[in-house]
Amino acid sequence: MGSTFFCRLSETTNTSLLLFLLPLVSYVWLVFLSLCFCFYSYLTVYTIPFLSLTRSTMRNQPLKSLIQGLQSFSRGSKDHVSLFSSLTLQDLGFYVSDEAAMKYFQNKAYPLAGEAFLLENALHQCRCEAGPGGRPKFVPFAWKSAREDVLGCSTLFESDAVTLCWFVVPPGRVLPLHDHPNMTVWQRILFGNLHITSIDFDRSDPSGETGVVVHAGEIVGQETGAAGGFTPEEGGGVLHELENREESLPALFIDIISPPYYRAPYNIPCTYYTAQKEGTEKPHPAPVGDSGIIGDVRLGDRVRLLKRAHYTGPSMNAFAHLSAD
Ligand SMILES: [Fe+2]
Repeated sequence: MGSTFFCRLSETTNTSLLLFLLPLVSYVWLVFLSLCFCFYSYLTVYTIPFLSLTRSTMRNQPLKSLIQGLQSFSRGSKDHVSLFSSLTLQDLGFYVSDEAAMKYFQNKAYPLAGEAFLLENALHQCRCEAGPGGRPKFVPFAWKSAREDVLGCSTLFESDAVTLCWFVVPPGRVLPLHDHPNMTVWQRILFGNLHITSIDFDRSDPSGETGVVVHAGEIVGQETGAAGGFTPEEGGGVLHELENREESLPALFIDIISPPYYRAPYNIPCTYYTAQKEGTEKPHPAPVGDSGIIGDVRLGDRVRLLKRAHYTGPSMNAFAHLSAD
């Protein structure tokens, strides 16, 4: 009897204990699973892209070497030219919009990594891609599929002596005819193709209103290769216009410019021009679209140059380079 009682008591105790423990174990298990999910989400959304971003920004050693070289730049030195010639599109790395960079500087908790994009990828992206479940996903940094896309640009380094900067010209757009007075410019097209018209001033005309076309044609972008360059003394184009005539392919070019525009002590302004072959209609008709080249001009043509009051080309979106430093 006593034994049976104790046995029943023990069974009752075990059942009660089980009834108490089961919800507790389930609750603890649920909390554990929730924590695992949160940790996984954190890793996926924040840490993994951040680590990937950090690895990629650490990797762009050729760009870092070039920027270090430009810190001791002199117009006579050639060291930067070989570094510039070996620079690839991959070396240009990650960017955010200037707007996002500004938000980050105001508040260091701003999730900058979530807005970063790889420049190389952006050149291949369409504006609208298939997202989760087949729904269209808007890609904010794309230059490939919309003719109304604006130019993209970024200054990677600038001092009183020199500027390193890139521009993306979307298909159908143009960086209008502008000058580089008393500057030395090294230039490479790293992606896409550009129709470039280069003009030298005719020094026999002191008014500065006559020029000679020294290049007019397509230049195909190259992953690596020698930089084209020009100085006023050497010719090769003190003024130039860069037009992307492709249907859907953006073009990216990168420049080293010395001295920079709008910096002391030279404070060189960038002036925009129209150019029209001598002997054709006068006075200049209004330019069509963004281009400053009126009509057809070819290598060797003498052209009449007219200053434009201000920049009339497509608007530009500026981007900030993300560096591991
Ligand atoms: Fe230029």
